[in-house]
Amino acid sequence: MSEIILIENLSKYFGKGSTQVKALDDVTLSISEGMIYGLLGPNGAGKTTLIKVLLGIVFPTKGTAKIFNQDVSNYEVRKKIGYLPENHKFPNYLTGEEVIVYFSKLSGFEINKNSPKISEVLKMVNMEKWRKTK
Ligand SMILES: Nc1ncnc2c1ncn2[C@@H]1O[C@H](COP(=O)(O)OP(=O)(O)OP(=O)(O)O)[C@@H](O)[C@H]1O
Ligand SMILES: [Mg+2]
Repeated sequence: MSEIILIENLSKYFGKGSTQVKALDDVTLSISEGMIYGLLGPNGAGKTTLIKVLLGIVFPTKGTAKIFNQDVSNYEVRKKIGYLPENHKFPNYLTGEEVIVYFSKLSGFEINKNSPKISEVLKMVNMEKWRKTK
């Protein structure tokens, strides 16, 4: 089985001196293709920090993290990642169809407001009436 996520000796420290927080301390972990992996731990254990490192939102202090054999600092790898955060918010100046066009383009799909895919997707989530609403 090939390793999709490979984390080696990863540490993330926030702040300096006596108030420094070791959010991640020498984490080594590998996740293979096809695996469903639950990252569990008490509040403050570092779960969100680890995910943020994988998504390139937070930079590691030490160690490495790779996805599909590419370092997470390579933003190209993010095109292959689906991520649903706890609290997500769509830009409030976009209509339903504009949200779909926006996120499709971010994922590398060539799409515009006339694409039949838009009605298909809105129908799938029962949100057709929000197509023109911000
Ligand atoms: N930006 C930051 N600056 C300073 N400390 C931070 C920052 N982000 C997280 N921390 C600290 O790092 C530690 C790990 O936090 P993290 O949010 O990763 O934990 P978690 O496992 O996701 O917790 P929870 O279950 O509450 O979501 C905590 O002590 C937290 O206070
Ligand atoms: Mg968290």
